[in-house]
Amino acid sequence: MSRTCVASAPGKVILLGEHWVVSGSYGLAASISLRASVECKEISCSRPEVRIASSLGGVIIDIRKPEKCSGPLCGLGYAAKHLVGILGIEPLCVQCRVASHIPVGAGLGSSAAVAVAFSAAYAGVHGVELDKSLINEAAYAAEEYNHGRPSGIDNTVASYGGLVLYKRGLGVKPLESRVELDALIVNTRIQRSTRRAVEYFQRNLSILEDIREDLIRLVDKLVLRGVELLEKGAIERFGRIMFLSHGLLNGMGVSIPELDWIVHTASAHGAYGAKLTGAGMGGSAIVVGDENALSAVEKECKKRGFEVYRVRLGVEGVKLKCK
Ligand code: PMV
Repeated sequence: MSRTCVASAPGKVILLGEHWVVSGSYGLAASISLRASVECKEISCSRPEVRIASSLGGVIIDIRKPEKCSGPLCGLGYAAKHLVGILGIEPLCVQCRVASHIPVGAGLGSSAAVAVAFSAAYAGVHGVELDKSLINEAAYAAEEYNHGRPSGIDNTVASYGGLVLYKRGLGVKPLESRVELDALIVNTRIQRSTRRAVEYFQRNLSILEDIREDLIRLVDKLVLRGVELLEKGAIERFGRIMFLSHGLLNGMGVSIPELDWIVHTASAHGAYGAKLTGAGMGGSAIVVGDENALSAVEKECKKRGFEVYRVRLGVEGVKLKCK
């Protein structure tokens, strides 16, 4: 009898260190309780295909030749090909349905969450329950198709969940501690280009010449101290590091008045911390605080026309169920 498998995986948010990581500091990311899910089942057809249906449209990928496919979902064919290769399995013809609560193009790791959920469900249909490191590897193959040479942070967070620390050269490391906390993600709905923001930040950083290294070392320290504080449950002090990090990013030119407004509003309502998250110059901010502060900030931000997501940070990574 053919199996049906459903897997889900979380999106991500960058908590500390964005932009500075490009120059060698640590970065810290966390999973969020917005998830993507993929349901796959075996169907009969003549070739080993993956047929994907999603709200972005559908695609049929010949997994022996994924390069023939074009479109945002084609990366999943590379993940399938990777899995077939490492597991040495006879590929089945598989039909999958993607459903995601993670906004697309908002820097929240939606493509990686889909790739991770797909990899788990695809292997599940073949009767294999993969460990997280193999799921992560397969999802990275899909991410490479979508983003060139990504850091691997998004797929690692989607696979392992929780907190993930990363640094160029040292790689990506999921932390063992389980820390969960409530936050708001506030999307300004202003489109931004990560590449342009990175270029602008790097240009501004290079102007600083000799203090450049001091700043990178400072951010390194802030990120590591941030991890310590989170692990101790000292959220108020962690929040102070968030405000400070926003100030540094603002000073480097990647904030915009809308993001600054969110951070000021958060501060005025007693939130523990707030900052832009990801590339900046648009996109989203993240706010951490107690229930009263989060409700007040949520109300103000909605009044201003921003999109607000209430999330839990640090939630579980990929989950799989088959029947
Ligand atoms: O929001 P995102 O996923 O586009 O994050 C970009 C993070 C940067 O540090 C600005 C760039 C990078 O490659 O790390």
